[in-house]
Amino acid sequence: MADTWVRMVTAQTPTNIAVIKYWGKRDETLILPVNDSISVTLDPNDLCTTTTVAVSPTFDQDRMWLNGKEISLSGGRFQSCLKEIRARACEVEDEEKAIKIAKKDWEKLHLHIASYNNFPTAAGLASSAAGFACLVFSLAKLMNAKEDNSELSAIARQGSGSACRSLFGGFVKWTMGKVDNGSDSLAIQVADEKHWDDLVIIIAVVSSRMKETSSTTGMRDTVETSLLLQHRAKEVVPKRIVEMEEAIKNRDFASFARLTCSDSNQFHAVCLDTQPPIFYMNDTSHKIINCVEKWNRSEETPQVAYTFDAGPNAVLIAHNRKAAAQLMQKLLYYFPPNSDTDINSYVAGDKTILKDAGIEEMKDVESLQPPPESKDTSRYKGDVSYFICTRPGRGPVLLVDESKALLDPKTGLPK
Ligand code: DP6
Repeated sequence: MADTWVRMVTAQTPTNIAVIKYWGKRDETLILPVNDSISVTLDPNDLCTTTTVAVSPTFDQDRMWLNGKEISLSGGRFQSCLKEIRARACEVEDEEKAIKIAKKDWEKLHLHIASYNNFPTAAGLASSAAGFACLVFSLAKLMNAKEDNSELSAIARQGSGSACRSLFGGFVKWTMGKVDNGSDSLAIQVADEKHWDDLVIIIAVVSSRMKETSSTTGMRDTVETSLLLQHRAKEVVPKRIVEMEEAIKNRDFASFARLTCSDSNQFHAVCLDTQPPIFYMNDTSHKIINCVEKWNRSEETPQVAYTFDAGPNAVLIAHNRKAAAQLMQKLLYYFPPNSDTDINSYVAGDKTILKDAGIEEMKDVESLQPPPESKDTSRYKGDVSYFICTRPGRGPVLLVDESKALLDPKTGLPK
């Protein structure tokens, strides 16, 4: 009996969107960036990873399942995270279940890991960020590691750079650090999610047939070939980081929007300055930028910020609910769903924005008027796959309810 126990921990971790981008590494193995970056954590109710980690003397090897399918853990990034977290494992004692794991036992005990994203991986939304953050966070809890979330972020960073920013909610800065071993390259919270809670985030998942260059390969090529990246990392980002932190602290949306849009555009300019050039945005992305730019210019002060990662999807941050509802009307005018799509599945996440926009059924979309500030009255049906309405959200949490676990408490295998 004594040796058949399974000990499990389940955690949920959010994804994040950078408003000052990380692009380029100074150390590829440790994943050390060439500049600081800042992100907004997205509400895990709409986009998150749930991970269950289990340990048992009956497991004979480390295994992992992602969205129900077994995947290999042999990659260097997984191995780095597992090694780092095992090195920090401490004694665990559960009297109720008669489990006692000594510090030294962790070296020989094997792990089962099951991870699930509540959003389609194929949508090209930063799933590796939430994934590695959740892996490290849940293992730290399973192994009773004493490190705080900043220290854990330096481990998650070794899985995927942007993952380190998913260890906190709200607004997060990844400081690039100075030392060679990377111990000071970690995330810190700039402000929590309650600090600026009238922001609304609308993600346009843009239809794309192109296979995109991965971030890892893309940034390697950029570091090797782009002079613009050197200028950006040395001259531009350090000033922007200071300004962005100020804008967030003061809830200064005009500055926040200006910095966010400029930084996204400079990141894509750096991609274009790479040899061979990398194109992440497509025609639809450009149309969305035009729509936002025209609207912002027609108002006294910017209403919406846009930012694009390594793909064509737009992340739009509206200054408040009113701006978000107006934005939704403009977006649905230009990008209505295909005739066979239900409006409620076309706009996922927080549907109250749709209601605020006065849109309840397809006929409301059909009768939308073109935005007055634009001469473009065309409609581009099918160019957007769907929208997700969300907001800034909280950091990682443990899920104590055993029914939420992805592994069977008796066998340690996926449920
Ligand atoms: C464009 O974190 O995916 O999203 O560190 O190689 O795993 P690796 O790259 P990754 O890169 C993210 C780049 C970005 C900008 C950002 O999130 O800051």
